[in-house]
Amino acid sequence: MRKPNPSRSLLIWPPLPLGVYFKKKADQLPFPLNQEGCRVYSLARHAIWNACQSLQLGSGDVVLAPAYHHGSEIEALIEAGLQIRYYEVNQALEPDPESLQALITPEVRALYIIHYLGFAQDAGFWRQWCDRNNLLLIEDAAQAFLATHQGQPVGSFGHMGVFCLYKTYGIPDGGAVISTIPPAFPAAVAETGGWRAFKRHVNWIAARRAEVGRIHLFFKPIVTWWNKKWHRMRGQLTIEFDMGNPASPPSALTNYLLPKILDDTTAERRRENYRFLLKHLIDMVPAPFASVPDGASPFAFPVEVHDARNFLMQLRKRGVVGLLFWLNPHPSLPVEDFPRSKRLREGLVALPVHQELTLVDLQQIVDAVMDVRVKKEATIGALV
Ligand SMILES: Cc1ncc(COP(=O)(O)O)c(C=O)c1O
Repeated sequence: MRKPNPSRSLLIWPPLPLGVYFKKKADQLPFPLNQEGCRVYSLARHAIWNACQSLQLGSGDVVLAPAYHHGSEIEALIEAGLQIRYYEVNQALEPDPESLQALITPEVRALYIIHYLGFAQDAGFWRQWCDRNNLLLIEDAAQAFLATHQGQPVGSFGHMGVFCLYKTYGIPDGGAVISTIPPAFPAAVAETGGWRAFKRHVNWIAARRAEVGRIHLFFKPIVTWWNKKWHRMRGQLTIEFDMGNPASPPSALTNYLLPKILDDTTAERRRENYRFLLKHLIDMVPAPFASVPDGASPFAFPVEVHDARNFLMQLRKRGVVGLLFWLNPHPSLPVEDFPRSKRLREGLVALPVHQELTLVDLQQIVDAVMDVRVKKEATIGALV
Protein backbone atom coordinates (compact mmCIF):
# COMPACT_ATOMS: atom_id res chain seq x y z
CA MET A 1 0.00 0.00 0.00
CA ARG A 2 1.22 3.46 -0.92
CA LYS A 3 2.08 5.60 2.09
CA PRO A 4 -0.63 8.28 2.53
CA ASN A 5 0.57 11.80 1.93
CA PRO A 6 -0.57 13.62 5.06
CA SER A 7 0.34 17.05 3.80
CA ARG A 8 -2.05 17.90 1.01
CA SER A 9 -5.50 18.54 2.39
CA LEU A 10 -8.58 17.08 0.69
CA LEU A 11 -11.95 18.52 1.68
CA ILE A 12 -15.58 17.61 1.04
CA TRP A 13 -16.22 21.04 -0.43
CA PRO A 14 -15.26 21.50 -4.07
CA PRO A 15 -12.45 24.03 -4.30
CA LEU A 16 -12.28 26.93 -6.76
CA PRO A 17 -9.63 26.38 -9.48
CA LEU A 18 -7.41 29.41 -10.08
CA GLY A 19 -7.97 29.21 -13.82
CA VAL A 20 -11.76 29.61 -13.60
CA TYR A 21 -11.58 33.30 -14.57
CA PHE A 22 -10.28 32.36 -18.03
CA LYS A 23 -13.04 29.85 -18.79
CA LYS A 24 -15.82 30.51 -21.29
CA LYS A 25 -19.39 30.72 -20.06
CA ALA A 26 -21.46 27.52 -20.38
CA ASP A 27 -23.73 27.50 -23.44
CA GLN A 28 -26.59 25.91 -21.56
CA LEU A 29 -27.72 26.17 -17.98
CA PRO A 30 -28.82 23.05 -16.08
CA PHE A 31 -32.10 22.66 -14.20
CA PRO A 32 -33.39 24.71 -12.38
CA LEU A 33 -31.27 27.64 -13.59
CA ASN A 34 -32.75 27.25 -17.09
CA GLN A 35 -36.29 27.84 -15.80
CA GLU A 36 -37.91 31.26 -15.94
CA GLY A 37 -39.40 30.91 -12.46
CA CYS A 38 -36.08 29.96 -10.85
CA ARG A 39 -34.83 32.36 -8.18
CA VAL A 40 -31.32 32.38 -6.72
CA TYR A 41 -30.53 33.71 -3.22
CA SER A 42 -27.37 33.66 -1.18
CA LEU A 43 -28.27 30.42 0.63
CA ALA A 44 -30.76 27.58 0.21
CA ARG A 45 -32.39 28.50 3.54
CA HIS A 46 -33.31 31.89 2.04
CA ALA A 47 -34.75 30.09 -0.98
CA ILE A 48 -36.91 27.88 1.28
CA TRP A 49 -38.19 30.85 3.28
CA ASN A 50 -39.12 32.82 0.16
CA ALA A 51 -40.83 29.90 -1.57
CA CYS A 52 -42.88 29.28 1.60
CA GLN A 53 -44.13 32.88 1.26
CA SER A 54 -45.08 32.48 -2.40
CA LEU A 55 -46.81 29.14 -1.76
CA GLN A 56 -48.63 30.73 1.18
CA LEU A 57 -47.25 28.24 3.64
CA GLY A 58 -47.03 29.80 7.06
CA SER A 59 -48.74 30.43 10.36
CA GLY A 60 -50.92 27.56 11.52
CA ASP A 61 -49.61 25.20 8.84
CA VAL A 62 -47.73 22.01 9.63
CA VAL A 63 -45.03 20.40 7.50
CA LEU A 64 -43.96 16.75 7.80
CA ALA A 65 -40.14 16.84 7.88
CA PRO A 66 -37.46 14.17 8.42
CA ALA A 67 -35.79 13.80 11.81
CA TYR A 68 -32.59 13.24 9.85
CA HIS A 69 -31.92 16.76 8.56
CA HIS A 70 -29.25 19.44 8.47
CA GLY A 71 -31.09 21.93 10.73
CA SER A 72 -30.90 25.10 8.65
CA GLU A 73 -33.78 23.94 6.41
CA ILE A 74 -35.87 23.34 9.54
CA GLU A 75 -34.98 26.80 10.86
CA ALA A 76 -36.08 28.34 7.54
CA LEU A 77 -39.45 26.55 7.74
CA ILE A 78 -39.94 27.68 11.34
CA GLU A 79 -38.94 31.26 10.47
CA ALA A 80 -41.54 31.13 7.70
CA GLY A 81 -44.13 30.41 10.42
CA LEU A 82 -44.59 26.67 9.89
CA GLN A 83 -44.76 24.05 12.60
CA ILE A 84 -42.65 20.94 12.16
CA ARG A 85 -44.03 17.44 12.66
CA TYR A 86 -41.08 15.06 12.43
CA TYR A 87 -41.03 11.63 10.82
CA GLU A 88 -38.35 8.95 11.09
CA VAL A 89 -36.63 7.69 7.95
CA ASN A 90 -36.61 3.94 7.26
CA GLN A 91 -33.59 1.76 6.51
CA ALA A 92 -33.46 3.07 2.96
CA LEU A 93 -33.46 6.63 4.40
CA GLU A 94 -36.93 7.13 2.94
CA PRO A 95 -40.16 8.18 4.64
CA ASP A 96 -42.50 5.29 5.42
CA PRO A 97 -45.92 5.94 3.81
CA GLU A 98 -47.86 4.22 6.60
CA SER A 99 -46.17 6.13 9.41
CA LEU A 100 -46.61 9.36 7.45
CA GLN A 101 -50.31 8.69 6.98
CA ALA A 102 -50.69 8.47 10.75
CA LEU A 103 -49.18 11.97 11.10
CA ILE A 104 -51.67 13.68 8.80
CA THR A 105 -54.18 16.04 10.42
CA PRO A 106 -56.10 18.95 8.81
CA GLU A 107 -53.26 21.41 9.62
CA VAL A 108 -50.69 19.41 7.64
CA ARG A 109 -50.02 21.24 4.34
CA ALA A 110 -46.75 19.79 3.05
CA LEU A 111 -44.33 16.88 2.98
CA TYR A 112 -40.61 17.72 3.05
CA ILE A 113 -38.21 15.13 1.60
CA ILE A 114 -34.42 15.33 1.41
CA HIS A 115 -32.41 13.87 -1.46
CA TYR A 116 -29.53 12.80 0.78
CA LEU A 117 -25.98 13.11 -0.55
CA GLY A 118 -27.12 13.64 -4.15
CA PHE A 119 -29.04 10.33 -4.31
CA ALA A 120 -32.64 10.80 -5.41
CA GLN A 121 -35.63 9.80 -3.33
CA ASP A 122 -38.52 8.31 -5.29
CA ALA A 123 -39.88 11.79 -5.88
CA GLY A 124 -42.48 10.70 -8.47
CA PHE A 125 -44.03 8.36 -5.92
CA TRP A 126 -44.06 11.08 -3.25
CA ARG A 127 -45.65 13.58 -5.62
CA GLN A 128 -48.50 11.14 -6.26
CA TRP A 129 -48.78 10.43 -2.56
CA CYS A 130 -48.98 14.17 -1.84
CA ASP A 131 -51.57 14.72 -4.58
CA ARG A 132 -53.71 11.93 -3.09
CA ASN A 133 -53.45 13.50 0.35
CA ASN A 134 -53.87 17.07 -0.88
CA LEU A 135 -50.41 18.12 0.33
CA LEU A 136 -47.62 20.14 -1.24
CA LEU A 137 -44.35 18.31 -1.90
CA ILE A 138 -41.12 20.12 -0.99
CA GLU A 139 -37.99 18.52 -2.45
CA ASP A 140 -34.77 19.45 -0.70
CA ALA A 141 -32.09 18.94 -3.33
CA ALA A 142 -29.53 21.03 -1.42
CA GLN A 143 -27.04 18.21 -1.96
CA ALA A 144 -28.48 17.04 -5.27
CA PHE A 145 -28.01 19.85 -7.80
CA LEU A 146 -27.55 18.13 -11.24
CA ALA A 147 -29.07 14.83 -10.04
CA THR A 148 -31.91 13.17 -11.93
CA HIS A 149 -34.49 10.51 -11.10
CA GLN A 150 -35.91 8.33 -13.89
CA GLY A 151 -34.49 10.82 -16.38
CA GLN A 152 -36.15 13.85 -14.78
CA PRO A 153 -34.25 16.48 -12.77
CA VAL A 154 -34.47 16.09 -9.04
CA GLY A 155 -36.40 19.05 -7.65
CA SER A 156 -38.81 19.13 -10.60
CA PHE A 157 -41.32 16.68 -9.13
CA GLY A 158 -42.48 18.77 -6.20
CA HIS A 159 -44.25 22.09 -5.72
CA MET A 160 -40.91 23.43 -4.48
CA GLY A 161 -37.36 22.24 -5.25
CA VAL A 162 -34.37 23.72 -3.43
CA PHE A 163 -30.67 23.52 -4.39
CA CYS A 164 -27.30 24.59 -2.92
CA LEU A 165 -25.09 25.57 -5.86
CA TYR A 166 -21.94 26.08 -3.77
CA LYS A 167 -22.05 22.46 -2.56
CA THR A 168 -21.47 21.27 -6.14
CA TYR A 169 -19.09 24.02 -7.30
CA GLY A 170 -16.48 26.03 -5.40
CA ILE A 171 -18.36 29.33 -5.72
CA PRO A 172 -18.85 31.56 -2.66
CA ASP A 173 -22.61 30.94 -2.19
CA GLY A 174 -25.87 30.38 -4.09
CA GLY A 175 -29.19 28.76 -3.14
CA ALA A 176 -31.69 28.22 -5.97
CA VAL A 177 -35.39 27.43 -5.83
CA ILE A 178 -38.03 26.48 -8.34
CA SER A 179 -41.64 26.50 -7.22
CA THR A 180 -45.08 26.39 -8.77
CA ILE A 181 -45.50 30.05 -7.75
CA PRO A 182 -42.13 31.81 -8.18
CA PRO A 183 -41.08 33.78 -5.10
CA ALA A 184 -39.86 37.38 -4.99
CA PHE A 185 -36.42 38.25 -6.32
CA PRO A 186 -33.85 38.88 -3.57
CA ALA A 187 -33.91 42.59 -2.78
CA ALA A 188 -30.93 43.13 -0.42
CA VAL A 189 -27.53 44.42 -1.55
CA ALA A 190 -25.20 41.69 -2.84
CA GLU A 191 -21.89 41.02 -1.12
CA THR A 192 -18.77 40.64 -3.22
CA GLY A 193 -18.09 37.06 -2.05
CA GLY A 194 -14.37 37.86 -2.21
CA TRP A 195 -13.37 36.29 1.11
CA ARG A 196 -15.26 33.06 0.48
CA ALA A 197 -13.89 32.80 -3.05
CA PHE A 198 -10.39 33.34 -1.64
CA LYS A 199 -10.91 30.49 0.87
CA ARG A 200 -12.10 28.17 -1.89
CA HIS A 201 -9.00 29.08 -3.93
CA VAL A 202 -6.83 28.28 -0.90
CA ASN A 203 -8.57 24.90 -0.64
CA TRP A 204 -7.67 24.28 -4.28
CA ILE A 205 -4.02 25.09 -3.68
CA ALA A 206 -3.97 23.13 -0.40
CA ALA A 207 -5.09 20.02 -2.30
CA ARG A 208 -2.08 20.40 -4.63
CA ARG A 209 0.76 21.90 -2.63
CA ALA A 210 1.91 20.06 0.49
CA GLU A 211 3.35 23.18 2.16
CA VAL A 212 0.00 25.02 1.86
CA GLY A 213 -1.94 21.87 2.77
CA ARG A 214 0.03 21.51 5.99
CA ILE A 215 -0.76 25.06 7.11
CA HIS A 216 -4.35 24.59 6.04
CA LEU A 217 -4.76 21.38 8.06
CA PHE A 218 -3.37 23.15 11.11
CA PHE A 219 -5.37 26.39 10.94
CA LYS A 220 -8.74 25.24 9.59
CA PRO A 221 -10.01 23.64 12.83
CA ILE A 222 -8.87 26.69 14.81
CA VAL A 223 -10.76 29.07 12.52
CA THR A 224 -13.88 26.86 12.63
CA TRP A 225 -13.73 26.68 16.43
CA TRP A 226 -13.31 30.45 16.69
CA ASN A 227 -16.24 31.14 14.32
CA LYS A 228 -18.53 28.93 16.40
CA LYS A 229 -17.40 30.50 19.66
CA TRP A 230 -17.83 34.05 18.29
CA HIS A 231 -21.34 33.16 17.14
CA ARG A 232 -22.24 31.73 20.55
CA MET A 233 -20.78 34.77 22.34
CA ARG A 234 -23.13 36.98 20.36
CA GLY A 235 -26.02 34.81 21.64
CA GLN A 236 -26.92 33.57 18.16
CA LEU A 237 -28.25 30.20 17.10
CA THR A 238 -25.59 27.65 16.12
CA ILE A 239 -23.79 29.14 13.14
CA GLU A 240 -24.97 26.31 10.86
CA PHE A 241 -28.65 27.18 11.49
CA ASP A 242 -28.50 30.96 11.49
CA MET A 243 -31.07 32.29 9.01
CA GLY A 244 -29.45 35.63 8.12
CA ASN A 245 -31.40 37.93 5.82
CA PRO A 246 -33.78 35.92 3.58
CA ALA A 247 -33.65 38.71 0.96
CA SER A 248 -29.90 38.15 0.42
CA PRO A 249 -28.95 37.70 -3.24
CA PRO A 250 -26.01 35.55 -4.34
CA SER A 251 -22.68 37.36 -4.14
CA ALA A 252 -21.30 39.23 -7.14
CA LEU A 253 -18.57 36.61 -7.57
CA THR A 254 -21.10 33.77 -7.58
CA ASN A 255 -23.01 35.49 -10.37
CA TYR A 256 -19.81 36.00 -12.29
CA LEU A 257 -18.26 32.57 -11.75
CA LEU A 258 -21.25 30.24 -11.88
CA PRO A 259 -21.75 30.33 -15.69
CA LYS A 260 -18.01 29.75 -16.13
CA ILE A 261 -17.69 26.84 -13.74
CA LEU A 262 -20.83 24.93 -14.81
CA ASP A 263 -19.82 21.82 -16.68
CA ASP A 264 -22.03 19.09 -18.06
CA THR A 265 -19.52 16.39 -17.03
CA THR A 266 -19.69 17.28 -13.31
CA ALA A 267 -22.26 14.71 -12.19
CA GLU A 268 -20.57 11.92 -14.18
CA ARG A 269 -17.15 12.81 -12.71
CA ARG A 270 -18.62 12.69 -9.23
CA ARG A 271 -20.16 9.29 -10.00
CA GLU A 272 -16.82 8.02 -11.32
CA ASN A 273 -15.01 9.17 -8.19
CA TYR A 274 -17.72 7.59 -6.07
CA ARG A 275 -17.35 4.27 -7.93
CA PHE A 276 -13.60 4.33 -7.35
CA LEU A 277 -14.06 4.77 -3.58
CA LEU A 278 -16.84 2.19 -3.56
CA LYS A 279 -14.53 -0.38 -5.16
CA HIS A 280 -12.19 -0.14 -2.17
CA LEU A 281 -14.46 0.78 0.74
CA ILE A 282 -17.82 -0.84 -0.04
CA ASP A 283 -17.97 -2.77 3.24
CA MET A 284 -18.13 0.55 5.14
CA VAL A 285 -20.90 2.12 3.05
CA PRO A 286 -24.51 2.08 4.32
CA ALA A 287 -26.91 0.07 2.14
CA PRO A 288 -28.84 3.02 0.60
CA PHE A 289 -25.55 4.33 -0.83
CA ALA A 290 -23.89 1.05 -1.79
CA SER A 291 -24.40 1.52 -5.53
CA VAL A 292 -24.54 4.61 -7.74
CA PRO A 293 -27.73 5.10 -9.75
CA ASP A 294 -27.24 6.62 -13.22
CA GLY A 295 -28.81 9.92 -12.23
CA ALA A 296 -27.01 10.45 -8.91
CA SER A 297 -24.73 13.44 -8.40
CA PRO A 298 -22.92 12.37 -5.23
CA PHE A 299 -22.18 15.21 -2.81
CA ALA A 300 -19.95 13.08 -0.56
CA PHE A 301 -18.97 9.46 0.07
CA PRO A 302 -20.58 8.04 3.26
CA VAL A 303 -18.95 5.49 5.56
CA GLU A 304 -20.28 4.09 8.84
CA VAL A 305 -18.04 4.13 11.88
CA HIS A 306 -18.61 3.63 15.59
CA ASP A 307 -16.27 6.31 16.91
CA ALA A 308 -16.71 8.94 14.28
CA ARG A 309 -14.90 11.82 16.00
CA ASN A 310 -11.79 9.75 16.48
CA PHE A 311 -12.04 8.41 12.93
CA LEU A 312 -12.22 11.96 11.57
CA MET A 313 -9.26 13.03 13.66
CA GLN A 314 -7.15 10.12 12.38
CA LEU A 315 -8.13 10.87 8.79
CA ARG A 316 -7.23 14.53 9.22
CA LYS A 317 -3.72 13.47 10.24
CA ARG A 318 -3.58 11.77 6.86
CA GLY A 319 -4.74 14.87 4.97
CA VAL A 320 -8.41 13.89 4.50
CA VAL A 321 -10.99 16.22 6.02
CA GLY A 322 -14.30 14.39 6.43
CA LEU A 323 -17.50 15.54 8.03
CA LEU A 324 -19.93 14.05 10.54
CA PHE A 325 -23.14 13.96 8.59
CA TRP A 326 -24.99 15.61 10.50
CA LEU A 327 -23.76 16.05 14.02
CA ASN A 328 -26.34 18.49 15.44
CA PRO A 329 -30.06 18.32 14.70
CA HIS A 330 -32.28 21.39 14.91
CA PRO A 331 -33.02 22.18 18.59
CA SER A 332 -36.75 21.55 17.98
CA LEU A 333 -36.11 17.81 17.39
CA PRO A 334 -36.89 15.46 20.30
CA VAL A 335 -33.73 13.48 19.57
CA GLU A 336 -34.52 10.38 21.65
CA ASP A 337 -37.81 9.80 19.82
CA PHE A 338 -35.93 9.15 16.57
CA PRO A 339 -33.28 6.53 17.32
CA ARG A 340 -32.29 5.74 13.73
CA SER A 341 -31.63 9.40 12.94
CA LYS A 342 -29.67 9.67 16.18
CA ARG A 343 -27.45 6.72 15.24
CA LEU A 344 -26.84 8.19 11.80
CA ARG A 345 -25.80 11.52 13.29
CA GLU A 346 -23.32 9.81 15.56
CA GLY A 347 -21.70 7.55 13.01
CA LEU A 348 -22.15 8.57 9.38
CA VAL A 349 -18.96 10.15 8.11
CA ALA A 350 -18.88 11.87 4.71
CA LEU A 351 -15.67 11.81 2.64
CA PRO A 352 -14.71 13.94 -0.38
CA VAL A 353 -15.91 12.82 -3.82
CA HIS A 354 -16.12 16.10 -5.77
CA GLN A 355 -15.15 16.58 -9.41
CA GLU A 356 -11.86 18.37 -8.73
CA LEU A 357 -10.29 15.26 -7.12
CA THR A 358 -7.59 13.48 -9.11
CA LEU A 359 -6.88 9.75 -9.10
CA VAL A 360 -3.97 10.40 -6.73
CA ASP A 361 -6.32 12.26 -4.37
CA LEU A 362 -8.83 9.41 -4.45
CA GLN A 363 -6.05 6.93 -3.70
CA GLN A 364 -4.96 9.14 -0.79
CA ILE A 365 -8.50 8.94 0.62
CA VAL A 366 -8.63 5.14 0.26
CA ASP A 367 -5.14 4.73 1.76
CA ALA A 368 -5.99 6.99 4.68
CA VAL A 369 -9.17 5.06 5.52
CA MET A 370 -7.41 1.69 5.13
CA ASP A 371 -4.53 2.82 7.29
CA VAL A 372 -6.85 3.92 10.11
CA ARG A 373 -8.64 0.58 9.88
CA VAL A 374 -5.50 -1.54 9.81
CA LYS A 375 -4.12 0.24 12.84
CA LYS A 376 -7.53 -0.19 14.50
CA GLU A 377 -7.62 3.50 15.34
CA ALA A 378 -11.35 3.48 14.72
CA THR A 379 -14.02 0.79 14.59
CA ILE A 380 -16.42 0.42 11.72
CA GLY A 381 -19.88 -1.09 11.58
CA ALA A 382 -23.45 -0.89 10.38
CA LEU A 383 -25.63 1.85 11.86
CA VAL A 384 -28.90 1.48 10.00
C1 LIG B 1 -30.35 19.07 3.35
C2 LIG B 1 -30.05 20.55 3.46
N1 LIG B 1 -31.03 21.42 3.22
C3 LIG B 1 -30.83 22.74 3.29
C4 LIG B 1 -29.59 23.24 3.63
C5 LIG B 1 -29.40 24.72 3.73
O1 LIG B 1 -28.45 25.18 2.83
P1 LIG B 1 -27.80 26.61 3.03
O2 LIG B 1 -26.67 26.41 4.00
O3 LIG B 1 -27.35 26.99 1.67
O4 LIG B 1 -28.83 27.50 3.55
C6 LIG B 1 -28.53 22.37 3.89
C7 LIG B 1 -27.20 22.88 4.25
O5 LIG B 1 -26.26 22.17 4.47
C8 LIG B 1 -28.77 20.99 3.79
O6 LIG B 1 -27.79 20.09 4.03
